[in-house]
Amino acid sequence: MADRKIIHITREQMAEQLHYAAMVSAMGNRPTSYHVVTYGCQMNAHDSEKLSGMLRDMGMTEAADRTEADFVIFNTCCVRDNAERRALGNVTWLKEVRKKNPRLIIAVCGCMIQQPGMAEKILKQYRFVDLAFGTSNLYKLPELLYRTLSSDRAVVVVEDEDTIAEELPIKRLRKDAAYITIMYGCNNFCSYCIVPYVRGRERSREMEAILREARELKASGVKEIMLLGQNVNSYGKGLEGHVTFAGLLRALDEIGIERIRFMTSHPKDLSDELIEVMGSSRHILPQFHLPVQHGNDEILRRMNRHYTRAQYLDKVRKLRQAVPGIGLTTDIIVGFPGETEEQFQDTLSIVREVGYDSAFTFIYSPRTGTVAAGMPDQVAEDVATDRIQRLIAVQEESQRKAMSRFIGMEEEVLVEGLSRRSSSEVSGHGRHGVSITLPGTESDIGSIIRVRVTAMKNNTLVGERIDEPEESICVKS
Ligand code: 5AD
Ligand code: SF4
Repeated sequence: MADRKIIHITREQMAEQLHYAAMVSAMGNRPTSYHVVTYGCQMNAHDSEKLSGMLRDMGMTEAADRTEADFVIFNTCCVRDNAERRALGNVTWLKEVRKKNPRLIIAVCGCMIQQPGMAEKILKQYRFVDLAFGTSNLYKLPELLYRTLSSDRAVVVVEDEDTIAEELPIKRLRKDAAYITIMYGCNNFCSYCIVPYVRGRERSREMEAILREARELKASGVKEIMLLGQNVNSYGKGLEGHVTFAGLLRALDEIGIERIRFMTSHPKDLSDELIEVMGSSRHILPQFHLPVQHGNDEILRRMNRHYTRAQYLDKVRKLRQAVPGIGLTTDIIVGFPGETEEQFQDTLSIVREVGYDSAFTFIYSPRTGTVAAGMPDQVAEDVATDRIQRLIAVQEESQRKAMSRFIGMEEEVLVEGLSRRSSSEVSGHGRHGVSITLPGTESDIGSIIRVRVTAMKNNTLVGERIDEPEESICVKS
């Protein structure tokens, strides 16, 4: 892993891809419609927006369903075994669809493809796959598609390089909210995690490129940006000068986009400077996703997390001091190798102690090539299943308590869509990150609406609209 190179894709290389895109557009056998199937995290969702942007610029239209498209791309995840199995299952199913549409081209990309040996496996076991490429080659889609359309053989490209490509076209899913990647890869090597192996070394985008993107988004009417990175707190390492995540946030705050969020943060890199910026900024939302992973020091040590339970709790205390009422969310793993019942109890107690607004809970999944996969005493499946159920019950109870702090409070909701339960209700997220339902119609989608929270139903808050104060009329005497 140590000899991986970080490559900045040049303007000339991007121009070359535009040239390939023009050639694909002119090909008689090119697909006319596409569908991207996305698995995994926000990073992947944003990569899919880039894939869609490139395909749109090659003259293809988006098909609503994978069965109606000529070109289907599976953008895969491999962080846990179930994500991987689901992706491969669906790729296989598409083989049947091709019998009805012989023009169909099937591509597989993303984290799964970056795993050692996966490209060869695809070539051998999934012969109906036409194109496979890793996360670092995403910007090359026009060239790869050109090569696929020009030959009868499968095109498989996985390079041992970590790239940063600027100026890719992006077809964004939403008009009101947008993702901005600020850094790629991860150097942390938590012992359970495959991400550093498949997403490569940590590398940050130039601050000016990020600010430019944010200004363009503001000009296009975007109200919320979500900054993305595997470990946003270590943003800036390797860039010239003293560039930090806190500094980036300060500069973004000046641009004036109404809402700024970010994920994911590593507790060990959460600086006092960042906490200070959270407390003093105007647009950074009072919410923080701070994965704890476990509540026991010995397990945290074997997870290679570089913090103790007490240090984590201290960061939580500081965050709450700087930003009263801040919304806290987390990720937790149960069934890490060697986890005893007693150690698991420490996870339950930290969940109670912090009082998260929500938590993503996972059963440990051994990933080939990671340190934890070779550890002794892997926890039996039934034990892990029992633990996750108990964890979910404790989290739900403490979540109810934590969320009751909002009742009677005012919140601002960025409306995302019609509520699933009723056509006269809409829902979105409040500034603290909690989902809120309120009376409304389709025309409210994309607006920020002030509400008073009146109740809580199934982990969602219910709000009523607060009428905006009438503009005061200035009468000259
Ligand atoms: N098994 C279970 N959960 C994992 N995560 C990462 N790797 C694994 C694994 N091997 C979880 C962590 C991380 C989240 C994105 O996925 O909690 O924060
Ligand atoms: Fe994986 Fe740890 Fe990096 Fe997060 S910080 S992506 S859990 S290695």
